[in-house]
Amino acid sequence: MTPVRVAVLISGRGSNMAALIEAARAPGCPYRIALVLSNKAGAEGLDAARLAGIETAVVDSAPYGKDREAHERAVDAVLRDHGVEVVALAGYMRILSAWLVGAWAGRMLNIHPSLLPKYPGLQTHARALEAGDSVAGCSVHLVTEGMDEGPVLAQAEVPVLEGDTPETLAERVLSVEHRLYPETLSRFCASLPR
Ligand code: GAR
Repeated sequence: MTPVRVAVLISGRGSNMAALIEAARAPGCPYRIALVLSNKAGAEGLDAARLAGIETAVVDSAPYGKDREAHERAVDAVLRDHGVEVVALAGYMRILSAWLVGAWAGRMLNIHPSLLPKYPGLQTHARALEAGDSVAGCSVHLVTEGMDEGPVLAQAEVPVLEGDTPETLAERVLSVEHRLYPETLSRFCASLPR
């Protein structure tokens, strides 16, 4: 079957993006990365995508100011131009409006560094440590209007260790993000009606 055309949306480092690109190289992978798009021209991940031979685009959010939907309409136009079928958010640090979420309902995934519904939003690792949790992890979920509230497709857990800081915990969680996201995106794409 023809691989599903996936766009990865990033704002920064792009390590999850790199994991998705790497996994897509495997023979029989049900998706291919058709585009990496960033809202920031300086996003580190863009260079890694270009080096991997992936098409990239920047739709800078700054000139749109508070007009979230106008920026999203520009993003959406680029996605449609590239024949994108599924959008994978990977450290895309924008709050999405109902318009974009509606336009991609059921076809937009996100990875979040907590065991949702715990700790939506930011500072997830510091909050897990403050709460004294013994287990942390990450979730891949479908994107809906509420921030980090959509149906969870998969989760992976890691232990919280004695002496952990938000940074050491983030690193441990990130390494399982890199496994969970490609696995979940593959399963999701393989099950899509085409
Ligand atoms: C990842 O840990 C991802 O789960 C998190 O940002 C990091 C991006 O790293 N996403 C969120 O917090 C979304 N709410 P990366 O750019 O190296 O993939």
